[in-house]
Amino acid sequence: MEKEIVKAWNGKRTDKVPMWLMRQAGRYLPEYREVRAKAGGFLNMVYNPAIAKEITLQPLKRFDLDAAILFSDILVVPHALGLKLAFMEGEGPKLDVVTDATRLNENGFLDRLAPVMDTVAAVKADLPKGKALIGFVGSPWTVASYMVHGEGGHDFALIRNFAKLEPDAFQRIIDVLVRVTISYLDAQVRAGAEAVQVFESWASAVTGDDFKRWVVAPNAAIVAGFKKLHPHVPVIGFPRTAKTDDLLAFDIGCNAIGLSQDVAPEWAAKHLQTRVCVQGNLAPELLLEGGAKMEETAKNICLSLDGGPFVFNLGHGVIKETDPSHVAALVETVHGFKRRALAA
Ligand code: CP3
Repeated sequence: MEKEIVKAWNGKRTDKVPMWLMRQAGRYLPEYREVRAKAGGFLNMVYNPAIAKEITLQPLKRFDLDAAILFSDILVVPHALGLKLAFMEGEGPKLDVVTDATRLNENGFLDRLAPVMDTVAAVKADLPKGKALIGFVGSPWTVASYMVHGEGGHDFALIRNFAKLEPDAFQRIIDVLVRVTISYLDAQVRAGAEAVQVFESWASAVTGDDFKRWVVAPNAAIVAGFKKLHPHVPVIGFPRTAKTDDLLAFDIGCNAIGLSQDVAPEWAAKHLQTRVCVQGNLAPELLLEGGAKMEETAKNICLSLDGGPFVFNLGHGVIKETDPSHVAALVETVHGFKRRALAA
């Protein structure tokens, strides 16, 4: 039987609102912090299938979420292409800087990610009944922004300049990322992932024609390549903070579109939900705050998107200072939401 959340991603309006949360596993959970302290670093957890499996399943032990998302990171892709990667406590990721695609080593790419596929298979084997497992990748533009700058927390000046002054060299990097991303998604699905999310977290750093070339085109190529291999596995696109015109241009064959909190749910109901499942979009700051305002806003999002296929989520990841009891309250609110009967 098809799981409820998978039905929703596939475009059906489900009886209850299914939900998961971006960064649902992570530092706001004391049990995550405990494992992290013992493992001695983020990448030691990501490449250890027993630990990564445990962390992936931690939020499902506490909360009645409808899906687990693989515990990993979007930056394992450049890492597996041979770039040095480190996650410094409190500083975010550091990566070798690359502007020349010939420095990327595609040979053995999937072999270096074998522990991640082992994690997927291990989680799948132990997944509670009715829950789904989500795999994911970062989109080329977002991943390339870390490759060109060597770190996060920048203003995108280097990558914008590079794309403008050396579009052919930049295109070659994007082309490598498109190719390996399709094979990595394929491997995750073969290992057991039941849906995949494509994170374009920095979609709003480009607009207009640049958005079409560097955001829409590579994501469209990934979705098309993936759908050839797995026509029935839902793809969720997440072009975070893209403007409404750009969001419309992002209709590239994804089954669902994830929305950040800056998009009005009423707008999405009218312009997106008629064609795809909509996923989102409570502000993580409201989850941090908790209480009546969080619950009211969550209900209003459910009401606005009640007319069609809908999966509840945040507009971005859970903030690390969030009290886990707020997550429990949010799950109760969303799962307690009564959908209205639609005329047949
Ligand atoms: O959502 C999940 O729970 C699944 C696991 C997941 C992580 N990162 C774990 C993680 C996913 C899907 C990601 C995606 C990711 N990683 C994105 C796209 C989504 C987004 O947040 O916009 C990006 C841009 C990254 C890159 C990245 N990873 C940064 C910038 C950082 C440092 C900032 C931070 O929050 O610490 C990370 C580290 C990271 N990835 C952590 C986790 C749980 C924190 C690691 C730790 O210190 O324990």
